[in-house]
Amino acid sequence: MSLASAEAETETVAAERSHLHSSPARAERLLARFHQLRNFTDALCAGLEPEDCVVQSMPDVSPTKWHLAHTTWFFETFILKKFVPGYRPEIPEYAYLFNSYYNAAGDIHRRDLRGLISRPTVREAQRYRASIDSHIENLLSAADEKLLDEIEPILVLGRHHEQQHQELLITDIKHVFAQNPLYPVFRSGRARHSVRAEERTATECRPYDFIEFEETPVTIGHDGHGFAYDNEGPRHQALIPAFSLASRPITNGEYIAFIEDNGYRRPELWLSLGWMTVNEQCWQAPLYWAKRDGAWWHFTLSGFRPVDEAEPVTHVSYFEADAYANWAGARLPTEFEWERAALDCPIDGNFVEDELFHPAPTAVASAVSAEKTAQDEDLHQLFGDVWEWTRSAYSPYPGYRAAPGALGEYNGKFMCNQYVLRGGSCATARSHIRRTYRNFFQPEKRWQFTGIRLARDPE
Ligand SMILES: [Fe+2]
Repeated sequence: MSLASAEAETETVAAERSHLHSSPARAERLLARFHQLRNFTDALCAGLEPEDCVVQSMPDVSPTKWHLAHTTWFFETFILKKFVPGYRPEIPEYAYLFNSYYNAAGDIHRRDLRGLISRPTVREAQRYRASIDSHIENLLSAADEKLLDEIEPILVLGRHHEQQHQELLITDIKHVFAQNPLYPVFRSGRARHSVRAEERTATECRPYDFIEFEETPVTIGHDGHGFAYDNEGPRHQALIPAFSLASRPITNGEYIAFIEDNGYRRPELWLSLGWMTVNEQCWQAPLYWAKRDGAWWHFTLSGFRPVDEAEPVTHVSYFEADAYANWAGARLPTEFEWERAALDCPIDGNFVEDELFHPAPTAVASAVSAEKTAQDEDLHQLFGDVWEWTRSAYSPYPGYRAAPGALGEYNGKFMCNQYVLRGGSCATARSHIRRTYRNFFQPEKRWQFTGIRLARDPE
């Protein structure tokens, strides 16, 4: 992410702070948000035992302990080491152990070996967090305006970085728990947003529509107000031909129809690489699904339970999303079509703060939504619930250049062999997502809360 875009967030309050606030007030505000972020990470781990926090169930998954330490390493490396004169890390080896992929920041411990590291212990990792938090507090409390100007953009980036890891922490512990025949429960869920049965049934039974959009030039990318990652810019014009977009994501019930129509055994529906993957991995259903006595069940963060046909399908790869779209006589949207549709939609939905930790049926998601507009009648669940695969390859926008230095490695170097996903999920923080937000994963990945929304060309 470019520091320039992070700085934009500071610009929005520049006048306010220079005239109305002294440094202590500004530092206090920054620290309040910092502690809120760190506390939320801790709250996510509240029900976990130390034994849960050290397992790496596959190379893509990191142990909870690693997430706790790595997010801390970020603040230590990019703020304390840079801005505290003579700063000496208590344990210099952490720089190697908890660097994820920043080559410019030094050597890196192998990602697939994170589960082999029993020391530091979980308690020591928590102590590391507390120690760095206290250093950050001391630094900010004593900083003048000029220093805060330098620190704030990186602090803001560190906050968004940790929010990304909060989501990974959730999806990773789900994968860890799914390996366990005892099917541990992360959260019992579902309590906060109950919807009357008749209301729910009425909404669930409604088939999806296709909402039409006319051809139009659209300004794509972030407008510079508030924080954005560098991959959301430069802002540029794109001509988007006429298209239509499904009114809601594909449900489990609709996806079961694809399975039962032999969707996983019909090569004509699949990309070549997808067909190879289906056969190599013996896929017959989304990740975490299993058939018991003729019915589909799946593992959720609330335990192993029957599949609810009204929920958006999740834990499908790009390959599965694309095959489903072919089967349904449709296609996946481009990221530009998605962004154009999102321009009219409030950023609202089932996010991590709702603590469902699972996609919700349309009726439940609507109950979660605080804000309602006329557009709610058209497009449902564009934000939250499931990340929506687009058919757009993750590549740089025209004029994109990664920033120099270690932080320039944040996004740009991953622009190869991945697809863009939009909208956030039930594990994404509400304050983290934007209409222009570009998530990205390789097409075979399934362990994130990834789902399907269809698009069509004009007839
Ligand atoms: Fe990271």
